[in-house]
Amino acid sequence: MALISALAGHAQQRQEITLTDDWQFFAGQSGTAERSHDRQSWQTVTVPHDWAISGPFDKKWDLQRVAIEQNGEKEATEKSGRSGALPWIGEGHYKRTFTIPQGFDGHAELVFDGAMAEPTVSVNGQWAGFWAYGYNTFRIDVTKLVKPGENLLEVDLKNLEESSRWYPGAGIYRPVKLILTPQETRIDDWGITTTTELNWKKEKGKDLTKFVVEVPIINAGKGKPVGLTLISPDGKRVSCVPAPMHGCKAIGNFTLDNPKLWTPETPYLYKVEVTLYDGNGDKNLYDDFGKVIDEKTFNVGIRTVRVSKEKGFQLNGVTRKFKGVCLHHDLGPLGAAVNKAALIRQIKILKDMGCDAIRTAHNMPSQMQMDVCDSLGMMVMAESFDMWRYPKCKNGYARFFDEWADRDITNLVVANRNHPSIVMWSIGNEIPEQGSEVGRQLSIRLQGLIHSLDPTRPVTQGMDKAEGALSCGMAQAMDVPGFNYRVHKYQKNIEQLPQGFLLGSETASTVSSRGVYKFPVKVTDNSQYASWAPSYDPNAIKTADGQCSSYDVEYCSWSNLPDDDWVWQDDKPWVIGEFVWTGFDYLGEPTPYDEYWPSRSSYFGICDLAGLPKDRFYLYRSKWNRDEHTIHLLPHWTWPDRRGEVTPVYCYTDYPEAELFLNGKSQGRIRKNPAERLDRYRLRWNDVKYQPGELKVVVYDADGNAAGEQTVRTAGKPARLNLDVWTQNTHLTANAQDLAFITVSLTDKAGTLIPDAADQLTFTVKGAGRFRAACNGDATSLEPFTEPTMRLFNGQLVVIVEAANKPGPLTLTVTSPQRKLTKTITIPVL
Ligand code: GAL
Repeated sequence: MALISALAGHAQQRQEITLTDDWQFFAGQSGTAERSHDRQSWQTVTVPHDWAISGPFDKKWDLQRVAIEQNGEKEATEKSGRSGALPWIGEGHYKRTFTIPQGFDGHAELVFDGAMAEPTVSVNGQWAGFWAYGYNTFRIDVTKLVKPGENLLEVDLKNLEESSRWYPGAGIYRPVKLILTPQETRIDDWGITTTTELNWKKEKGKDLTKFVVEVPIINAGKGKPVGLTLISPDGKRVSCVPAPMHGCKAIGNFTLDNPKLWTPETPYLYKVEVTLYDGNGDKNLYDDFGKVIDEKTFNVGIRTVRVSKEKGFQLNGVTRKFKGVCLHHDLGPLGAAVNKAALIRQIKILKDMGCDAIRTAHNMPSQMQMDVCDSLGMMVMAESFDMWRYPKCKNGYARFFDEWADRDITNLVVANRNHPSIVMWSIGNEIPEQGSEVGRQLSIRLQGLIHSLDPTRPVTQGMDKAEGALSCGMAQAMDVPGFNYRVHKYQKNIEQLPQGFLLGSETASTVSSRGVYKFPVKVTDNSQYASWAPSYDPNAIKTADGQCSSYDVEYCSWSNLPDDDWVWQDDKPWVIGEFVWTGFDYLGEPTPYDEYWPSRSSYFGICDLAGLPKDRFYLYRSKWNRDEHTIHLLPHWTWPDRRGEVTPVYCYTDYPEAELFLNGKSQGRIRKNPAERLDRYRLRWNDVKYQPGELKVVVYDADGNAAGEQTVRTAGKPARLNLDVWTQNTHLTANAQDLAFITVSLTDKAGTLIPDAADQLTFTVKGAGRFRAACNGDATSLEPFTEPTMRLFNGQLVVIVEAANKPGPLTLTVTSPQRKLTKTITIPVL
């Protein structure tokens, strides 16, 4: 097959141009005519772009009088911050030019990975296309609209009020690509499929794997020669095969001996190179192929996915349970605008926790996120809808469902099906049609559509009304019956499920605020607080502080604690795992403070909105991370007003036993106790009386050997600012996109966090980059993310800086004017 490349001449190549810079943006209600005359008000932006993330925060943007049905509310009340309290509602207009080469007579296509919302696209003043759903990817054939030289692209967007249950973002928030293929005969890249068959056959004692690649060719006439090359994860050519045409599809088979399989732990990626030649398809494939007329290279993982009654969920034939989290698409202070560095940071944080799967709640993911999951090793449940025909909010997707659902599902699947990270599709979340025959039929239809486009993956949906979903047969119809919350119903559910297993498609919804501890510690499903301490009145919303306790004992009326899920995960082989609500806090849905202002982001996150771990992170880590040990003590130990008061101490650890010491005095050596709700997975000393000083835990392994310790100290006077930098590499890349995340902490001389510090900090960036955003994780803060000043929240915040497109040093200076403290760091931009 080396012959092919040697003989074939190269014609002009396919070009994929990402349209990033020099977009003009205009927000408002104007029509086209006004836009072209009003030059003043256009602003130059780069895409991905989110026009609403700079704020200002204001309850007026999304004030609603509604009953949140899925929370069990019957009466409408005033809700604020439900979709982030940011100005995302309204119209947005974008335009820019792009260039078509002289003499071009091939195919031109625009690919949008998502635009919020209802994008109407025009090229050179002519309507080119429309897509209803802001979360989906779509492509538009613009061949007939473009001309050699400069072309004008315009995109008009419209976000209606009450169209989302969370912050959807606003604008062209995912990349836009122009794809030029030099001839009309071309590879249909969205049509490509791959399938893996492990242990396909045995030869000379070896188990061989079959890997099949199918490539549709558009306008192939009588057929064209197609060659396929497989490149191994270490960059070597594994094999080249011809892919004979069957109808309009070229199909190539690779036979592989001992391939490196993709798993979250070993995310090996192979590459497939598809080469289309313009020779006559009738010829012997090893003859002259003619010129290369199109080429496409993409990553694949060699792996299989299966669900069965006997073995549950299997990846490459190995049963495993999902240790998953649900994620909304916003990136906290960056809003909905996707950014690779930010996505990598998220996935790395989750992997450190031992998490191996995400659910893209409740919509289509970005390609960028799927690329990151492929390469870092994160399984994905790729979801589609939060509603079908029956609206969950007045102007939600229900407006489009009948006309668009099949097209939306189709694009989700065809654009994403070669991502090895995706192991399951989801057709919906808590669809109100649960319990009806319509719901059952729609489930069967959407699942069937997915099967026809991708027979290799199972399909699920998250159901919260178990009785209804089971009585109408909807749950029984799914490949994977997914249940949201209500673990106490699992036993009854499984008895009615022919599948023989079920998934916790959404679990926990435990709420907490980083660094906030409420006393007395109380397990509650109604966690609104009068004040920090000591008076506690769960109904006193008028005087609430808008925070939840980090003892991780608070949840919602419909939900539960992490511990409650683990009992089922551990004790029942037929529970195939869980997806916790949520991995990170997100903008909007400030439950339990939906009626309290100010509050504009969630409390559900295992990490806060800035990506900083809450205590709960270590609880999950102690259970999920099987490679590294976890020893984490809480709360902090600086409580000047609590001398002599009972201040419970928890330790989150994978070790079974530990002894706690306060200023050297033992508070008891205790073991985990499977019989008690909160003692099976945590170690708790509930009667510790606070004294300042040193709290130390010593953990013991199963044989009773001391295995490690952790100490928490009472903080002294605030003495310094600590800056801890995260970058994907040891430097930033000079591409005007790479980001560094700097965690700022105020500590005493010895490095102990000042746990209630709320200093107003300022940020100055000089050199090869700029300040991008800051976030302190406080759901009640109304400080804009994009201003270079912010208060610490419980001693910490995160500053995000962006590399310039030129190399050089970037310096960030953080100052607390109030304490006359300052700290500068330098990050190389290369
Ligand atoms: C679920 C829902 C999620 C979120 C969550 C909060 O019922 O699927 O989108 O609203 O509740 O607990």
